[in-house]
Amino acid sequence: MSSKKQISVSVSNISGRSAPLSEFKWGKLTSALKINRVEEEISKRLFSDGRVVAILKRAFEQGLSRNLTWNISEVDLDATSAFRIAASVFQRGVSVTDSRCQVKPESKATISYDVEIVTRRSDCFISAGDRDMIIVDQNVANSWERQLPKGFVAFTFAEANKNTTTAAEITDLIRGRRSPDSRVFVVGGGVAGDVVGFATGILGVKCHYVPTTLLSMADSSIGGKVAVNFEPWGKNQIGLFHHPQAVYIWPGWLETLGEKELKSGLVECLKHALISGDETLWTALSKPKKTFNINSDFLETVIQVKRGIVEIDPYETGERAVLNFGHTLGHALETAASSRGIAVTHGECVAIGMIHALRLSSKYRGMAAGSYVDDLLRSGVVMPKAVLKELNDGDHKGSVLSKQLIELMSRDKKASINDSISFVLMDSPGQIARAEGNSWVIQFPRQGALADLEETLSFLLTLSY
Ligand SMILES: NC(=O)c1ccc[n+]([C@@H]2O[C@H](COP(=O)([O-])OP(=O)(O)OC[C@H]3O[C@@H](n4cnc5c(N)ncnc54)[C@H](O)[C@@H]3O)[C@@H](O)[C@H]2O)c1
Ligand SMILES: [Zn+2]
Repeated sequence: MSSKKQISVSVSNISGRSAPLSEFKWGKLTSALKINRVEEEISKRLFSDGRVVAILKRAFEQGLSRNLTWNISEVDLDATSAFRIAASVFQRGVSVTDSRCQVKPESKATISYDVEIVTRRSDCFISAGDRDMIIVDQNVANSWERQLPKGFVAFTFAEANKNTTTAAEITDLIRGRRSPDSRVFVVGGGVAGDVVGFATGILGVKCHYVPTTLLSMADSSIGGKVAVNFEPWGKNQIGLFHHPQAVYIWPGWLETLGEKELKSGLVECLKHALISGDETLWTALSKPKKTFNINSDFLETVIQVKRGIVEIDPYETGERAVLNFGHTLGHALETAASSRGIAVTHGECVAIGMIHALRLSSKYRGMAAGSYVDDLLRSGVVMPKAVLKELNDGDHKGSVLSKQLIELMSRDKKASINDSISFVLMDSPGQIARAEGNSWVIQFPRQGALADLEETLSFLLTLSY
């Protein structure tokens, strides 16, 4: 293979995953679970048990945190396996004891895979055999149909259908077509990778990534985190850790990617520059530009940032939280926009989230953040002001939107602890702020968080950028 660069990702299952201290005891509620017919059907197709989705809904309704052990000793015997499956996708991969579903390493093995930045499109499929299944994002198939391997299956992936229904369709597709030893190649952006990665994780099938957006090349294909949205609880609320066997990156796919999507990926790259303290990268990326030169050196630099963090904390029990910089508010904005039918990209929302996190870092940690906020605003990656205004329902005080965002952030099981809202903040570029107990997230009471958010929204809405 004429690969230009190879980055090896190696994660150990034993590091960092310890059993949580507290537990939640489920009562004998199985017969009282409200099971909706449509969800029961999806649940059966996706999890081979019609009750899993109803259990998940119950867990979200009760506001359970991700790190609680589920004590299922009182649950009806025939429902224990449904509870275990629900716990594993609620908590992203748990092993269970007889009566407890707790966060523990599944196995002690170290998982290693290569991320190859290749120079020819065909190198992405060099290891694909006749038995392997190639699932391609429909938009990629539209632009590259003749250049793709024969027999691929095209599927429409979008943020709006990144959910359990689509994951169930993908599991049906894989179950129907694959032979026992075949692998799945997923060719597409972060949505395709997350949904197919989740489906293959549930099925225990090996997955190879061929990312075709900047965001998926620089970020989402690395680290094994796969998830789907779970409405109304929002973005990426249920998921697993399912590492790919290999990732093949051919930057040439980006020729057909729209500018809006490129900018969305650029935001994650800017985040990587900021959290790693790489000022040269930040300066190069944040320059306002009409054309993008995404070469393999640049991709290697940003991928190395993600690799480094993922290897230290593969299961997000600590340091990996820094990758959520800008995402507490970013995810809430994405959900708020989708609830109003307004089209936004992940990056546009995260850019606003980063501006907010930078302002909080300045206010509470004394970071000299002003120039970074200015750079982001000048770079052209932030959600257009007209869209932010539309989201804000034309209310310049921002109260309707900000209350909804606070509600969404406090529902996010990752972003909220005991009804407070958690943000990743910085002391300076490359230095993540550490809270009491050395935590990687800083907690804010809802009221204070609302006041700060309203300040950021009115700052953005009165600026011309
Ligand atoms: N798993 C993780 O660690 C992780 C990390 C960051 C983001 N994410 C997730 O990634 C998602 C965003 O990913 P994304 O920005 O790649 O979005 P996406 O997958 O929706 O792709 C963006 C658009 O570009 C189209 N497209 C993809 N490749 C193309 C190409 N080469 N030419 C033309 N069109 C193409 C897609 O059809 C889509 O319409 C979000 O759901 C986010 O939550 C996951
Ligand atoms: Zn992101």
